[in-house]
Amino acid sequence: MSVTAGRDGAVAVVTIDRQDALNALNVETLTELRDRLRELAADDSAQVVVLTGAGDRAFVAGADIKYMSGLGADEAKEWGALGHEAARLLEEMPKPTIAAINGFALGGGCELALGCDLRYASSRARLGQPEIDLGIVPGWGGTQRLARICGLGVAKDLIFTGRMVEAEEALRIGLVSAIADPVLDHSIEVAQKLAAKSPVALGVAKRLLNLSPGALDREAEEFGDLFATEDAKEGLAAFAEKRAPRFVGR
Ligand code: COA
Repeated sequence: MSVTAGRDGAVAVVTIDRQDALNALNVETLTELRDRLRELAADDSAQVVVLTGAGDRAFVAGADIKYMSGLGADEAKEWGALGHEAARLLEEMPKPTIAAINGFALGGGCELALGCDLRYASSRARLGQPEIDLGIVPGWGGTQRLARICGLGVAKDLIFTGRMVEAEEALRIGLVSAIADPVLDHSIEVAQKLAAKSPVALGVAKRLLNLSPGALDREAEEFGDLFATEDAKEGLAAFAEKRAPRFVGR
């Protein structure tokens, strides 16, 4: 099992554990995550869900690039849909979700964190949407949620440049709400406070705050289409081969 769901009273803690790949998500891990989130969404005894990564290096270093390098456009759309489903569960389940970002939160990792209602970072956390350097774009909600949470200017900066931000900058641009060490303890502490509030009122507040979800379907479609380009094949292959990509523009 690479995704475990533990319990601290009414607080569920979901941990992604694939440390040899910095908790990057392959099909097996992402499917397990989706399944755990589905169960927790339906479980009234879990009043708050905290998501984190195992170890001290990574929350989630992204979708598994080695797996993605073999995908055609149709498969990439299915893959994108699975990531969208996980992020949407975090965003829409009728209870607060919190990302405890204990290290790298890149690409799909940053997008899962963006699906959560609250984000806290350890002082060593680094966040970003580096897909552009692979010849692709964020495909699990990042183009919409990053713009909604941090503003269009910040989203364009991070998505166009692919640069990583450290915890301090993430706090300044509103990508996380606080920096705390150890971040999981802080997140559970906040979760326990939320678990003492009315779950009915929290559920309604969350639903109202989430109105106007943006163009998520459009993103899922165009993310998949990019996998038919030479640049995506080149960008994804170059990562595994540990070299700089050579993009040709088609
Ligand atoms: N997909 C697949 N494998 C990944 C991965 C990902 N997203 N991120 C890290 N890994 C693997 C590395 O390939 C490496 O495996 P190896 O030991 O078999 O070569 C292992 O995790 C450790 O990563 P490494 O790159 O050696 O660590 P580092 O400290 O030098 O660099 C990062 C850390 C996060 C900067 C670097 O791993 C990275 O850039 N990862 C990709 C991030 C990314 O683009 N994510 C978005 C994907 S959509």
